[in-house]
Amino acid sequence: MKVCTTKAETRATLAALRKAGDTIGLVPTMGFLHDGHLALVKAATAECDRVAVSIFVNPTQFGPKEDLASYPRDTDRDLEMLRAAGVDVVFMPSPAEMYHADKQTIVDATALSKILIGKIRPGHFRGVATVVTKLLNITQPDRAFFGKKDYQQLRVIKTMVRDLDMPVRIIGVPTVREADGLAMSSRNVRLTPEDRKAAPVLNKALVMADKLVAEGITAKQLEREVRDRIDAEPRANVQSVDVRDAETVASVGGRITAPVVVLLAVRFGDVLLIDQRVVSPQKGQR
Ligand code: PAF
Repeated sequence: MKVCTTKAETRATLAALRKAGDTIGLVPTMGFLHDGHLALVKAATAECDRVAVSIFVNPTQFGPKEDLASYPRDTDRDLEMLRAAGVDVVFMPSPAEMYHADKQTIVDATALSKILIGKIRPGHFRGVATVVTKLLNITQPDRAFFGKKDYQQLRVIKTMVRDLDMPVRIIGVPTVREADGLAMSSRNVRLTPEDRKAAPVLNKALVMADKLVAEGITAKQLEREVRDRIDAEPRANVQSVDVRDAETVASVGGRITAPVVVLLAVRFGDVLLIDQRVVSPQKGQR
């Protein structure tokens, strides 16, 4: 496994692989890897000849009062895991290597970035879209792999790639969960033991949503039921519950007749957890 800390070395390494005829899969991460990231690596390995992983805690997607400084990091462990998973190339730049001191250009999705999580974290998706554009330009992969847990992020990236004619296929990979249903996230380690015990309420509420949609319910009723279920857990501080069209994330009015995504953003202490589930009135499931 080759570990590159500069853009130039990464470009040269991947260019040589491409020249040899290999297809490249990119898995962008912010490190502190878990089984969810390894599922992305596995999907990339199944679909591409070579797998590149980036590890970069991107400062521009954190707000001034957010957890950039306390975001968990363990590079040695990350590299061990990636080596064991058979990854070919790791790109691990410093912020100074990644961003020009006089950077002036940003990439943003005009509407998608400002709704849902974009309201709770203004500027977050601009930071994501910009860094993902840079990572795609540096690595020039055939495919790039992202978790479906970050549903809105995946929509933003797919829309950006479509709108800007970027020559890459974006692949969404299903959420990996702990045994008690909590979606895997690097932020889970920052939960107190009590909050960690309470956090599976998100998945419980999503499973309940699945049943309610199968029985027939309006989007507004579903939002209320899901919010009430999570509010019943005193440690949970609900930031948002949204039921949106699964494809476009547009608002849904009236009775649910087509697949919708239930999007959750819930704080436990100062840790913001997100989760999602696509539910369909026909099958009661994705
Ligand atoms: O999902 C993440 O870990 C990050 O938002 C990403 C896509 C690596 C961009 O920094």
